[in-house]
Amino acid sequence: MKDNYYFDNAATTWPKPEPVYAFMDAFCRGHAVNPGRAGHQMAVDAEAMVTETRHLLAKFFGFSGNPHRVCFSLNATDSLNTVIYGLVSPGDHMIITCLEHNSVIRPANHLERDGDVSVTRIGADGQGYIDPDDIRAALQPNTKLVVINHASNVLGSLQDIAAVGRVVAESEAVFVVDTCQTAGVVPIDMEALGIDVLVFTGHKGLFGPMGIGGMIVRDGVEIRPTRVGGTGVDSISPFQPDDYPFRLEAGTPSVPGIAGLNAAQKWFAEMGRGEDKSLDHARACRRALENVYASELNHINELADAFRAIDGVKVYGPGGNAPRVATLSINIDARPADQIGAMLDADFELCVRPGLHCAPLIHVEQGTVEQNGAVRFSPGYFTDGEDIARAIEGVSTLAAAINR
Ligand SMILES: Cc1ncc(COP(=O)(O)O)c(C=O)c1O
Repeated sequence: MKDNYYFDNAATTWPKPEPVYAFMDAFCRGHAVNPGRAGHQMAVDAEAMVTETRHLLAKFFGFSGNPHRVCFSLNATDSLNTVIYGLVSPGDHMIITCLEHNSVIRPANHLERDGDVSVTRIGADGQGYIDPDDIRAALQPNTKLVVINHASNVLGSLQDIAAVGRVVAESEAVFVVDTCQTAGVVPIDMEALGIDVLVFTGHKGLFGPMGIGGMIVRDGVEIRPTRVGGTGVDSISPFQPDDYPFRLEAGTPSVPGIAGLNAAQKWFAEMGRGEDKSLDHARACRRALENVYASELNHINELADAFRAIDGVKVYGPGGNAPRVATLSINIDARPADQIGAMLDADFELCVRPGLHCAPLIHVEQGTVEQNGAVRFSPGYFTDGEDIARAIEGVSTLAAAINR
């Protein structure tokens, strides 16, 4: 029996691979100083690790541009604010979807309320899929930005990003993809998918710690810096340097966070290489993700099938073999989701996430707001059969008690 059965990987993955903890510890003790600012050896070592991580992430995400266009931030929220506020100007139009997280919805709402920016919010079908034709129909001559969530953090629906990318490419708009729920799970080739700006957070599927995220900005896309300050280079200049990454990175970066991402990248590559040490980083990671994704899909399909068979349980989102990630939301009868979450925790040590998941628009569309949202289960790579059995036991026991 475990102390906790962790089903909140969509919020943050836990645990992290062992080499992530070990490398962060060793790096913090030996080299975690301000990178690049000073010329001493420790600063050079820190800078080398940061640069190596930009290169690893560029390969991981299929980006063949200059790795300096891999910019670090605090998290996806920080990146999305940087990208949205740094690209949109008064008079512009932007398109988002109802599947977005508040890290997109709120910047769009603030811009709409406070400035001269118009926003179109694209609806989803009942299973949580966006129709690329709806995006085509919403494009206007002044559409500056299309922001879409690769996979829903509520329903797990996985969008056809290549199809949306082709539609956006017909316009002048910048195509921004939020990969929070897919990076480190679903192989992503930024160029093949037509992504102009890829936003990632470090602490979910990428298996880094909290406090690190980033964005990869395609050549030709120039984001206005919204936060300016020290860069350690060109200090005499009164303004933020134009060059990436300094353009979007002001202040001391999270070197411990970047070290965690660095170790996690190598962990993926190691897993993917197996016996075949000749595989390069991109191909090794792609192979690792096939393994990670297959394992997570097994878990989620097992949960979905079991939950669907329980009287009184409503399962939201994709059915059958529809494209998805390992995130699943349910409700039991009309019980408030937070009550169910609290009971699953108290009686079965299940760590789930009840509520609106910072994605209110999709809860409005699914009709779950009155019920305080839904109860989300998100297994991860380290979930095992015991966790799955516990989740099924918990939900079936509670549903039976409620239906009695
Ligand atoms: C789809 C999506 N976008 C954005 C975010 C925000 O990520 P962070 O909290 O790391 O900024 C999340 C986190 O839950 C998410 O699931």
